[in-house]
Amino acid sequence: MKITVPKILDLKSERQITMMTAYDFPTSKAVSEAQIDIILVGDSLAQVVLGHDDTLSVTMDEMLHHVQAVTRAKPNCLVVADMPYMSYHNTKEEAVKNAARFIQEGKADAVKLEGGFKRKDIIEAIISAEIPVMGHLGLTPQSKNMMGGYKVQGKTLELATELLEEAVLLETLGCFSMVLEGVPSVVAEVLTEKVSIPIIGIGAGANVDGQVLVFHDLIGMKSKEYIDAKFVKRYANQHEEVVKALENFKKEVENKVFPTEHHSYEAGKITENDVKEWKKEIKKILS
Ligand code: KIV
Repeated sequence: MKITVPKILDLKSERQITMMTAYDFPTSKAVSEAQIDIILVGDSLAQVVLGHDDTLSVTMDEMLHHVQAVTRAKPNCLVVADMPYMSYHNTKEEAVKNAARFIQEGKADAVKLEGGFKRKDIIEAIISAEIPVMGHLGLTPQSKNMMGGYKVQGKTLELATELLEEAVLLETLGCFSMVLEGVPSVVAEVLTEKVSIPIIGIGAGANVDGQVLVFHDLIGMKSKEYIDAKFVKRYANQHEEVVKALENFKKEVENKVFPTEHHSYEAGKITENDVKEWKKEIKKILS
């Protein structure tokens, strides 16, 4: 059954919520089959699929292209489209227009955006347009230049209190959930107790309402030299598996082991004699 926004709100008191990023049709199918609750078409697309160094350069059009691929698979998961950098940082009108593109053209169910106090008016405007919003607090990668890199946030009581105030603000504005990234577990636990909407953690410890990981981190679709963040758990080593498969393909083609008859089409009505005669004809034509 399709997961809805009200269902996500209910899950806070029922069980842990799972969220996974996906950026294409086959991954969307797999995530849905695994009965994950939410697909996030994250702006992490910029790094894990498009090869950028950070999330800042991915555009609305690029994000939309991938949201469409994900929703074409008709997953049962709630599909949340991540608003890219500068798609919601100017006017409220522009932010609502961009959020609505994800709903109308991308067929997403909701949008996610980073920030608290600074984004109050924008979040209010998007929710007024009947678009469900997932917030994102703590280590917000789009603010990496302001934060001086990817640094754990809320490490003093003063900063943790500020985070709590922002979480309460998101709840008051009507966000249906939020991502909490890169904060001490003890801080995440208090925020989770104090707000009524689900908090989905990444690098926020175990005592939150659910967990999200980036798909390519989880399946290990990363070359050896890539160093995972502390919060990543690899559940597979797909990069190595894929390299092995490609090496086997190369070897079999070079040694004429692949393709076999099994992978080839039969002659149909063409006999061996037909081929012999045909070759003679061709020789005449070409001479
Ligand atoms: O873009 C993304 O993948 C995210 C998750 C890390 C929450 O924002």
